[in-house]
Amino acid sequence: MKVWLTGGGGFIGSNVVRAGLDAGHEVLTTAATFTPPAGAGYAVDHLDMTNEAAVRASIEAFAPDLVINCAIMNDWGQMYGDREAAWAAYVEATRHSSAGAADVGATYVLVSTDWVFDGTQAGAHEETPPNPINFYGALKLASEMVALERGGAVARVSGVNGLHLARPTTIRAQDRGFGYFVASIVDALEVGETFTVWEAPEINMRSTPSLALECGEIMLMIGDKQADGVFHCCGADSVTRRELAELTCKVFDLDASLLRYGPPDPDSLMAAPIPHDSSLTTPRTQRVLGHAPTPVLELLQRFRLQREAEHPGQATHEIKDT
Ligand SMILES: NC(=O)c1ccc[n+]([C@@H]2O[C@H](COP(=O)([O-])OP(=O)(O)OC[C@H]3O[C@@H](n4cnc5c(N)ncnc54)[C@H](OP(=O)(O)O)[C@@H]3O)[C@@H](O)[C@H]2O)c1
Repeated sequence: MKVWLTGGGGFIGSNVVRAGLDAGHEVLTTAATFTPPAGAGYAVDHLDMTNEAAVRASIEAFAPDLVINCAIMNDWGQMYGDREAAWAAYVEATRHSSAGAADVGATYVLVSTDWVFDGTQAGAHEETPPNPINFYGALKLASEMVALERGGAVARVSGVNGLHLARPTTIRAQDRGFGYFVASIVDALEVGETFTVWEAPEINMRSTPSLALECGEIMLMIGDKQADGVFHCCGADSVTRRELAELTCKVFDLDASLLRYGPPDPDSLMAAPIPHDSSLTTPRTQRVLGHAPTPVLELLQRFRLQREAEHPGQATHEIKDT
């Protein structure tokens, strides 16, 4: 299969690239600032995803079977500070890439999020009506509607953990969501530092973790089956931050007495509300793809193996504990 994606230099995108290469696919990613090392085994087009002509020309020239829109304006200050630019980067960019996919008859996948739900809809399945409570969720839901009305698929990822495969260091430590949470804990505890697991009503306290590489693999299954509609690309288990931290210690053989529990760093909080419990279920994804979600313990074990293979014997970033 030929796979064209946006954002292959990002956290999830770099795992989609890896999943594609591992499966023997030909891959082209767009990038804004990222340049892969020589001999990386895939192609890159430097372009702005809000530039319709550039996006459609890139897709047309590559003639992919599968188009995945994974890029994102990921800075909430920028997103709230310039809402027109944010709309262009989410919704219009989805229009451009889905139009490009339609031009060449490719299957289309928009990467979305569990934060289209409001945090009181625990166990939301693929057909549960979303109810976003912040601008990010609203942008994602608007983008989902564009993708679905164009006959595409939506791949909602949640609690994404794993390795960033395009950057030598982890981009951020703990935040209000679950992204990078496991890597942050491992990096701190394995060098004997404490790690304070944030607990507060105003952050994402429970979700259904996933492994970024497996998210990529599920997106490729959507492409293989030329499927459309909504998919939940996550694991099998809903866990709290505390439960995930304790399981991480168990799987990575780390000293759980170094864990602390406390309120979030006040600098990490914004006026925007955050879904409290964003747990997902996956009945349609299992039915359509024949893919059973992976238990969280297995996801963590796979992450450990992946981390040891990529970074033998070294921490991947410096942790600033609160
Ligand atoms: N991370 C999570 O925990 C999580 C959870 C739920 C959903 N998601 C969804 O997963 C997707 C990927 O998230 P991520 O965390 O992997 O993001 P990320 O690491 O911040 O990567 C974002 C990518 O977007 C690219 N990009 C930004 N602006 C661009 C522009 N104007 N034109 C072209 N490319 C541009 C960047 O390119 P360069 O690298 O070239 O600068 C970067 O590779 C998003 O749709 C997000 O909503 C993520």
